[in-house]
Amino acid sequence: MKGVLLHGGFGTRLRPLTHTGPKQLVRVAGKPVSQWALEDLRDAGIKEVSIILGELAPDRVVEYYGNGDWLNMRLTYIYQGYPYGLAHAVYVAKDFVGDEPFVVYLGDNIILEGIRDFVKRFEESDSDAMILLAKVPSPERFGVAKFDEKGRLIGLVEKPKVPPSPYALVGVYFFRPPYIFRSIEELKPSWRGELEITNAIQNLINWGLKVEYDIITGWWKDTGTPEDILEANRMLLDAKIQANIYGSVEEGAIIEGRVFIGKGAVVKAESVIRGPVYIGRDSVIGPKAFIGPYTSIGNGCRLTNLEIENSVLSDEVVLENITTRICDSIIGSYTTIGKHEGMPSGLRLIVGERTRIYL
Ligand code: TTP
Repeated sequence: MKGVLLHGGFGTRLRPLTHTGPKQLVRVAGKPVSQWALEDLRDAGIKEVSIILGELAPDRVVEYYGNGDWLNMRLTYIYQGYPYGLAHAVYVAKDFVGDEPFVVYLGDNIILEGIRDFVKRFEESDSDAMILLAKVPSPERFGVAKFDEKGRLIGLVEKPKVPPSPYALVGVYFFRPPYIFRSIEELKPSWRGELEITNAIQNLINWGLKVEYDIITGWWKDTGTPEDILEANRMLLDAKIQANIYGSVEEGAIIEGRVFIGKGAVVKAESVIRGPVYIGRDSVIGPKAFIGPYTSIGNGCRLTNLEIENSVLSDEVVLENITTRICDSIIGSYTTIGKHEGMPSGLRLIVGERTRIYL
């Protein structure tokens, strides 16, 4: 079975983080969101994966993942460009998948329990497609499944005003060629101008082909918004991060709970790190830093004289001498926030488009 990882889209809800790169590269618990998805595919036995690239800095995706050797995977890339819809993104992978069954994984989805059992089920079946569903409190934001009185799947509706069931489509789809591609060829753009994957699957159902479903009961997240990123970070720190200290901890620093400290990172005196916390390589924490639960810090960051909790920092972030506790924040790479010594007091901000700062 092959894998297709969708790495395109606009990422508007995550601006300004997505002005300089795709949302799937935003890091949670030490890894880009799409790396959690790729590793899930690999752990389910799918090592040959094509990554579908969008218009937002696609070169950064290729630079980060390369040929996949370091993940023990075989990665190739296909350029989708403008996001004409999930079905369009799947269609550009037609030659890559050939006549093999394949799984499509949205690169901004995280499934805590993993997809191994679902992959096995699909491999052992002769179905033309299989979808995954999860019971959600507000189905109107998703593609929603419709069942008949015997519990058989009879339809899928994209973002319905009145949801026919509480079961939303999770961002992982299984297909066995050729019908899915024939179906996409017949699609017309929807009201939002996209080729919808829900309509492509609806065609398969209407044609009497075998479309199965399975239900995800564990935690699953579509990380489209800043709040989703913070929640995913919390879940992954809780579930996946082991206590490990590869860096160094100076005397007088206190480490409590599950804390991962990467190679070359230093925790200086008079600092407290209270896990779960992830600290990337070569970052310097302290002196006088409190890093509270559910914080992920990228590589090469410098945090001095401050308090922070429930936040996600990308690489090379500098935070210094901040008197108010930072919480629930997502901070992009190469950002500096701090008191400017020797300058009269006052906030001096150089801030990109669509930034939100609550003081
Ligand atoms: P969306 O969440 O709809 O993607 P978006 O990036 O357009 O988000 P926003 O609404 O904030 O602007 O898409 C789901 C996933 O599929 C996401 O990982 C991006 C990816 N995608 C593609 O790769 N190609 C596409 O044509 C589309 C529409 C999405």
